[in-house]
Amino acid sequence: MSIEVKVSDAPSAESEDRAQSTVIGIYSGGLPATASAPSLDEARAKRRNFEGKTNQSLVDDSSGSMVIYGGLGDKAELTLDDLRRFGALAVRSSSRQASVDVLLPDELPAGVSVADATRAITEGALLGCYKFTEYKSKKDPSKIETVVVVGGDAEAARIGTRVAKAICLARDLVNHPASALTPIRMAEIATEVASENGLDIKIWDENEIADEGFGGLQGVSLGSDQPPRMIKLTYNPEGATKSLAFVGKGITFDSGGLSLKPADGMVTMKTDMSGAAAVLAAMSVVKEVVTDIKVVGFMAVTENLPGPRATKPGDVLTARNGKTMEVLNTDAEGRLVLSDALSLAVEEDVDAIVDIATLTGACLVALGAEIAGLMTNNDQFGDEVAAAADRAGEPVWKLPLPKRYRKHIDSEIADMKNIGAPRGLAGALSAGLFLQEFVGDKPWVHLDIAGPARAEGDDGYIVKGGTGFSVRTLLETAVGRSQQ
Ligand code: BES
Ligand code: ZN
Ligand code: ZN
Repeated sequence: MSIEVKVSDAPSAESEDRAQSTVIGIYSGGLPATASAPSLDEARAKRRNFEGKTNQSLVDDSSGSMVIYGGLGDKAELTLDDLRRFGALAVRSSSRQASVDVLLPDELPAGVSVADATRAITEGALLGCYKFTEYKSKKDPSKIETVVVVGGDAEAARIGTRVAKAICLARDLVNHPASALTPIRMAEIATEVASENGLDIKIWDENEIADEGFGGLQGVSLGSDQPPRMIKLTYNPEGATKSLAFVGKGITFDSGGLSLKPADGMVTMKTDMSGAAAVLAAMSVVKEVVTDIKVVGFMAVTENLPGPRATKPGDVLTARNGKTMEVLNTDAEGRLVLSDALSLAVEEDVDAIVDIATLTGACLVALGAEIAGLMTNNDQFGDEVAAAADRAGEPVWKLPLPKRYRKHIDSEIADMKNIGAPRGLAGALSAGLFLQEFVGDKPWVHLDIAGPARAEGDDGYIVKGGTGFSVRTLLETAVGRSQQ
């Protein structure tokens, strides 16, 4: 991503040799968000059905210079996410210009600072022009070199750029084919991220995974030639008084194992490491947003394949915390690898744990492709993470972890089994109840991102493919804790 986001006090001067556009926010009903801006030609807007709704834009080059009006929606309901969408719209409607001026609205909603708005526009602009072209011979890059947030805050643009780059890293990791992004490759990338950002890193290889009792991760890995990795990244700023752990599911390809998925269900399964990608991405920028919290990221990374040594239905695995798990469906592998990563997070004795996983098709069915399921053993922490997700513009919805359903994962021969009630009833909840067995009494939130980890099409700053969902929620959770 070579686009640079800058700020300035006044609109850029027209330049002879550089195509430029100016993007102006318009609220529903046609009210311009920036009083000093060229006014909207209302008749023309009406002809083009431009009403100032979010994601609507109107291009006007009648005066010789290119002006783009971008919808912000209802003035009274303006959110940071509308500004992210506005940022995306600005770059998407200006892809033939080298430079884009985006005018910051004059008035911002209560509680939203100029810095917050600048950061949101920056994030939206950089995320909106994300393209994964690694494997295309024709890359067709956007012409934009510079985005100038007029009236913006320079430090916020810098942080927004860092956060957007992290989200683009998560998207890249998700979009890479499984054969390119193996567990070993993921560990190499984590090593680079750690050294670039001053994080400590510890990686367990396949022998250490076996020797140190990571039975879930090992069991899932056995059907594949590719060795698994457990990865731990630590950000430990001097004087930290609080701590958090982020835990990610990192199945670089989920074939289902011996309980093989049907062909159609396997097509998108290179994305089953989205949780681990979000954790790595969040760890790469956490130092930009908090300086008083120790944050530890764990990623349990393996393929799930049906090779000759694969775990078989009926096998029993022992997790790092000593609990035994009867594997009745090898396609419910996420909870098995997370058992060890969550156990490690508990050993680390952090104040609270958030795990991120593309865990169940059931959650996708329940909440659709845009909303993550949130489950927790601690309502206060659950509310904290839900509030963080709200600030981040990442929709989550709370689901219960009913004690009465714990019986669904009772096993005849082990401490629990890795499937729930027949016919997959409440499948997202049985998965959550399974994970709960590994967090002891630590405040813990589980986010099932089976839906929003991947987008089927472009929408605002979201681009088809890996979305990087939950990177901002993780960061906002850390920020919320820091302000407590
Ligand atoms: N990775 C899948 C869940 C998934 C499905 C994510 C669709 C994104 C889109 C997970 O490992 C899985 O296969 N879960 C099973 C569990 C079942 C066998 C108990 C599922 O949801 O069907
Ligand atoms: Zn699976
Ligand atoms: Zn999976």
